[in-house]
Amino acid sequence: MKAIEIRNKYLNYFKKHQHSIIPSAPLIPENDPSVLFNTAGMQPLVPYLLGEKHPQGTRLTDYQKCVRTNDIDEVGDNRHLTFFEMLGNWSLGDYFKEESIKMSFEFLTKELQIPVEKLSVSCFAGDEDCQKDEETAKYWKEVGIPEERIYYFGKDNNWWIAGTEGPCGPDTEMFYDTGKPKCSENCDPSCECGKYVEIWNNVFMEFYKDNKGQYTKLSQKNVDTGLGLERMTMLLQGKETPFDTELFSAVMEKLETLQKVDNISSRRIVAEHLRSSMMIIADGGRPSNIDRGYVLRRLIRRMIRHLNKLQISLDELEGLIKLNIEILKEMYPELEQNRETIKNVIIEEKDKFAKTLEHGEKEFTKEMNKLKASGKTKLDGKVVFKLYDTFGFPPEITEELATENGMKIDKEEFEKSFKEHQEKSRVGAELKFKGGLASTGEMETKYHTATHLLNAALKQVLGSHVHQRGSNITEERMRFDFSHPTKMTDEEKQKTEDLVNKWIAAAIPVEHMEMKKEDAIKQGAEAMFIEKYGDIVSVYKIGDKSLELCGGPHVSNTSELGHFKIKKEESSSSGIRRIKAILEN
Ligand code: SER
Repeated sequence: MKAIEIRNKYLNYFKKHQHSIIPSAPLIPENDPSVLFNTAGMQPLVPYLLGEKHPQGTRLTDYQKCVRTNDIDEVGDNRHLTFFEMLGNWSLGDYFKEESIKMSFEFLTKELQIPVEKLSVSCFAGDEDCQKDEETAKYWKEVGIPEERIYYFGKDNNWWIAGTEGPCGPDTEMFYDTGKPKCSENCDPSCECGKYVEIWNNVFMEFYKDNKGQYTKLSQKNVDTGLGLERMTMLLQGKETPFDTELFSAVMEKLETLQKVDNISSRRIVAEHLRSSMMIIADGGRPSNIDRGYVLRRLIRRMIRHLNKLQISLDELEGLIKLNIEILKEMYPELEQNRETIKNVIIEEKDKFAKTLEHGEKEFTKEMNKLKASGKTKLDGKVVFKLYDTFGFPPEITEELATENGMKIDKEEFEKSFKEHQEKSRVGAELKFKGGLASTGEMETKYHTATHLLNAALKQVLGSHVHQRGSNITEERMRFDFSHPTKMTDEEKQKTEDLVNKWIAAAIPVEHMEMKKEDAIKQGAEAMFIEKYGDIVSVYKIGDKSLELCGGPHVSNTSELGHFKIKKEESSSSGIRRIKAILEN
């Protein structure tokens, strides 16, 4: 069964069980500066898990595009991916354990026709925060999983939370037995040897963990499930790795015909990072030196380095991008729609990086020779920093090269040197993953509304080509990225600022509405990714100045905002400008 058939079967099965199919949210979370990318299907749904009413009801299903970068260095082995698709079904205070288990079991055994003998499950073992989940085990027995294939594990395995704070709960996981022999007498589904592969995780989300580590009950009992599509495809096709499925095989084979040096790990890295970076770019990501832009930059640069390792000409990249669009466009039409942008962004980054790489590698080789001559095995952190700072050579690449030479790098010392320069660049930002909702205090709410006014004002001052490309809000300031080809003049900045302040002074009410997506489009509503929304959309209207699709929250009248001031206007990436602005009392 192909991946797309599994996806369609999944969505149809849950539709048949009264779930509304909702579209995948973009990889880049909207209005949520606390995470870099969506890392799980539940992430865009956090407000609804906490009790907000979802316009499409209490039973939802979708496929969600996800990017997880904590395992980026593992890519190249037989299983790790940075981009993956998660199929999910949700109960928002609707069904709970019994129905969830019955549906999962039926889907696996009837729709996907997995023999029941291949399935094992695990349940939460219980601790001081939550009791042992014997109820879940009982339902598993009822559907036909024998007691000896029901395991109990603690929080490490059977508790799910995104990050450290947010909605969470015990989960039950389903495992597929690959038929390999047990690696030891104690081998069970928690073992990583490869005999058991986790295929589905149903989280019974009835708790909230706060920032002090305290658990409280949520106002409703939810179910959040996640089934990794690439893994399921691989298992159902009897393949050893996701790279052997139709999602990657054509690119893998092409790389094999192009390569002059054989290296399977490099081929996997190229194929995986190519797909991942194309998906991020299609959802509006652009390479830069901070936050998610840096993750994208890292993916593209690592891919380029491994093309070099395979001794494949970088001129082949364009053909590889084209091939990947052909393979994936049915599943992700946004790749086809953004064909030109994807190509331009990757090629531009390649041109920039090829030079850096050449200089950096020369310098690295010099340093490596010195190190070998000295009989040491660890590259000085200051040298790693010099390679980074002077030659633009990313530390993770230095580390990778060092490993290939049987050496290590002094990370601690590098980080020390790096911290001193942290003001300039925030590489470590991807560690700031917290999960859940960004806080929306009073100031953040004001900045949300100011963002809509700024968007509208820029359109009036600069023209209708202006569209939002990103936004980031903290208690202290707002940042707004928008499409515009040139630097704004002082006069344009002043006009924009004046216009926003004029609207604030006019005390315009801010109205929240829910309407059909097509009506919102007809009325000219602004949205970053209109095709990604469901049929009923949430819209905020500020008089006749602004109409935008948005989940809020917003102030109720513009007069609450105070005085708006643009602090900075600068380039964000090619064709995209960035404004930093504040609200003063
Ligand atoms: N949130 C859970 C996971 O990501 C189930 O969807 O595994």
